[in-house]
Amino acid sequence: MIIQPRTRGFICLTAHPEGALQTVKNQIEYVKSKGQLENGPKKVLVIGASTGFGIASRIEAAFGSGAATIGVFFEKPSSEGKLGTAGWYNSAAFEQEAHKAGLYAKSINGDAFSDEVKQQTIDLIKKDLGTVDLVVYSLASPRRTHPKTGVAYASVLKPIGEAFTNKTVDFHTGNVTDISISPVENEEDIQNTIAVMGGEDWKFWMEDMKNAGVLAENVKTVAYSYIGPELTFPIYRNGTIGQAKNDLEATVSIIDDLLKDLGGKSYVSVNKALVTQSSSAIPVVPLYISLLYKVMKEKGTHEGTIEQMQRLFTDRLYTKDGIVPLDDKGRIRIDDWEMADDVQAEVAKRWNSVTTENLSEISDIEGYRREFFNLFGFEIDGIDYEKDTNEDVKVPSIE
Ligand code: NAI
Ligand code: NA
Repeated sequence: MIIQPRTRGFICLTAHPEGALQTVKNQIEYVKSKGQLENGPKKVLVIGASTGFGIASRIEAAFGSGAATIGVFFEKPSSEGKLGTAGWYNSAAFEQEAHKAGLYAKSINGDAFSDEVKQQTIDLIKKDLGTVDLVVYSLASPRRTHPKTGVAYASVLKPIGEAFTNKTVDFHTGNVTDISISPVENEEDIQNTIAVMGGEDWKFWMEDMKNAGVLAENVKTVAYSYIGPELTFPIYRNGTIGQAKNDLEATVSIIDDLLKDLGGKSYVSVNKALVTQSSSAIPVVPLYISLLYKVMKEKGTHEGTIEQMQRLFTDRLYTKDGIVPLDDKGRIRIDDWEMADDVQAEVAKRWNSVTTENLSEISDIEGYRREFFNLFGFEIDGIDYEKDTNEDVKVPSIE
């Protein structure tokens, strides 16, 4: 089939398997070019392993540390005549490349919030690996069905208290407009967002795995958070999603207690704002990212997901002296280059002056747009998109 991008707003409905394979190969090459971690993880579970920071974490663990990996994700498989999702094709590519390199890699496609998928994962760890020494929690989802009560929660992306008006961009057209987002109307919206994106599910995973005896001595676990600049505070850190991130960050001490007798430790890593399927859904943020990319590229400090994860493992989680550098709130910061004063000052200056007319000059909107399509395997160098492509690609470990 000839596969072309088909978009609806910030969603791309199609994905290209050969493009996805190439993006995975590119990430593998990057990680290999950085050399091997000496004291890195060996048996790794990645929850949310198919796209964004999750696939990059899996690639870093496997190809930067020689780790066996189990990946959990929620993707649509391809079938005769029907396209799979980008994360499906990424995972097919990852397993194929991992197996070629002689690395163990198996995947589970299902709802990570459910007890069933947790049990299935535990059974697989028991059968094949015994224990895991790193658990990466990289889920991003708009909804969660609670495994104990069956209640279905939907998260909202809204400010709290008052309406938030600021600039935003339609990255397809390059139109910069003002957007006004009304605040949550009730406490329930906040609680629902915490139920979906807060720390409870991470805690459930760690509790179930601890009880099942599948966590190794000195196990580490890491989940991802975001802070960002003041200009996005109303919609991000001080908004509903920020409350969920506060909850996630507060879960660290609960999980630390749980892991104490194993000598284990849990972390939240505050990551850089990057183009992923999740971040493109947040108003205002894509315009910020476009300006940020331009400024960081000019300064030579720009990173993508794989550069971030390579640095997380090498310079934070698995340093040579075993010390994990943390901020005053106990968090790992790999958003340090994003938050550097000179970067933020320049972004803020450009934010005030950005319009539809000067957008392509002062921001990296073209880079944003291209990276968005890259997420779905499009606009990748070396891929012939006019060529007939086999859309039915298996993830080797999945029936
Ligand atoms: P993403 O949308 O690329 O990845 C989400 C992953 O979760 C995918 O593997 C997807 O299959 C999986 N998933 C979603 N619902 C699932 C379910 N019910 N069961 C199993 N798997 C499910 O998102 P991204 O951006 O990589 O986000 C990962 C984490 O990083 C999130 O906590 C996010 O808040 C955080 N983060 C993201 C930043 C960004 O700029 N994109 C910045 C800093 C942190
Ligand atoms: Na992810």
